[in-house]
Amino acid sequence: MPDTIRINDVCDFEGREIAIEGWLYNKRTSGKLHFLQVRDGSGTIQCVVFKGDVSPEVFERAADIGQESALRVVGTVRADARSPIGFEIGVGDLEVVHRTVDYPITPKAHGTAFLMDHRHLWLRSSRQHAILRVRSKIVKACRAYCDNNGFVLIDAPIFTPSSCEGSSTLFETDYFDEQAYLTQSGQLYMEAAAMAFGKVYCFGPTFRAEKSKTRRHLTEFWMIEPEVAYMDLAGDMDLAEDFICYVVQQVLETCRPTLEYLQRDLTALERVQKPFPRISYSDAHDLLKKAGCDHTWGDDFGAEDETVLGNAHDRPVIVHRYPAACKAFYMKGDPENSQQALCMDVLAPEGYGEIVGGGQREDDLEVLRRKLAEHGLDEAPFAWYLDLRRYGSVPHAGFGLGIERTVAWICGLPHVRETIPFPRLLQRLYP
Ligand code: 4AD
Ligand code: MG
Repeated sequence: MPDTIRINDVCDFEGREIAIEGWLYNKRTSGKLHFLQVRDGSGTIQCVVFKGDVSPEVFERAADIGQESALRVVGTVRADARSPIGFEIGVGDLEVVHRTVDYPITPKAHGTAFLMDHRHLWLRSSRQHAILRVRSKIVKACRAYCDNNGFVLIDAPIFTPSSCEGSSTLFETDYFDEQAYLTQSGQLYMEAAAMAFGKVYCFGPTFRAEKSKTRRHLTEFWMIEPEVAYMDLAGDMDLAEDFICYVVQQVLETCRPTLEYLQRDLTALERVQKPFPRISYSDAHDLLKKAGCDHTWGDDFGAEDETVLGNAHDRPVIVHRYPAACKAFYMKGDPENSQQALCMDVLAPEGYGEIVGGGQREDDLEVLRRKLAEHGLDEAPFAWYLDLRRYGSVPHAGFGLGIERTVAWICGLPHVRETIPFPRLLQRLYP
């Protein structure tokens, strides 16, 4: 029996007989030849069935298989200059592991709703494949950055007794006789962990009952959230900048052909270099006014505003010191101007908008209690969080980077729905 290999290793087997296990991606027949495009998850390769090389049964079998049939192909690897991967397989034998008929997703164009309903199958198409491979590398780079820089991974809980990012987007669930919520962010737990370990991060799914349909909002998305004790807002901005540069650099190093396949403009990604411009909220407001936008000082930025701010720069831009009133309760007030918070958002260029939100946390017990009250939040579920300000409270800061928005930006996709294997949106819980 020949060795079974993965298609992406085929270059090591030129002239040798091998087997591959995969699925039929596409097929073309011309007289005595069947050209089978076979994919195995690692790549796609053309397998040529020549009538003169195989038994009549094998030739018939190859004639009679539909798209996405599961196949085991035995053949010889040969160099082929016309092949995108430089090789093809001259088939000697072909086993049909599972015969597929009427695969719903054909090479013709389908509408988005149809494709989303068939997401479990759509994942097999080359474009989805490319996007999710980049996602996998982005996640790897995010974790590697933290792991290589002295951060300890601390997993945050998914069931929580309280809100972190405002009560309007909480998913409620019964927890025996109590009310629980799906986590909106691991941040509050990372603050506890930062007081224990100094530098920590969590990476996990977060949930928000986002009631609006936009290109940027999922109801379930993944976030990486570093948190550091004795770090201030300036340090937080440095960290976010360094983090994003590393991630983009890693993706450029490991995914260049995949990004080219997605027709991503790589020069835009190559410009993602330190330093990122840093502008205050007030300067951003002025910039929007000059650009003719209808933005009111005091309001958070909308998607359109973020697009304008992002487009005004050739790399991510950091906007800091938003009005405290439009941000979460845990933000530390700016000692220079109590109306503004020591917070920051990183806006991606090319219209992708906010990918990071974070800042310095309120570390004074009484101020924090007042802010909870101002935000109409009950103190009881935050008693443990207030303890952090009773016992060894220090300045600290962190941020959250949304994986899906980062994937959309790096891959150059217009909508976040293709950046996650099984998107959860306002009107989508299936498949
Ligand atoms: O700005 P946000 O709400 O910040 C926090 O949750 C902080 N507690 C994080 C922290 O400081 N540890 O969310 C952070 C990021 C956003 O910048 C965005 O990239 C992403 O999470 N995000 C979403 N992504 C997809 N769909 C949604 N509904 C998102 N909401 C936020
Ligand atoms: Mg935000």
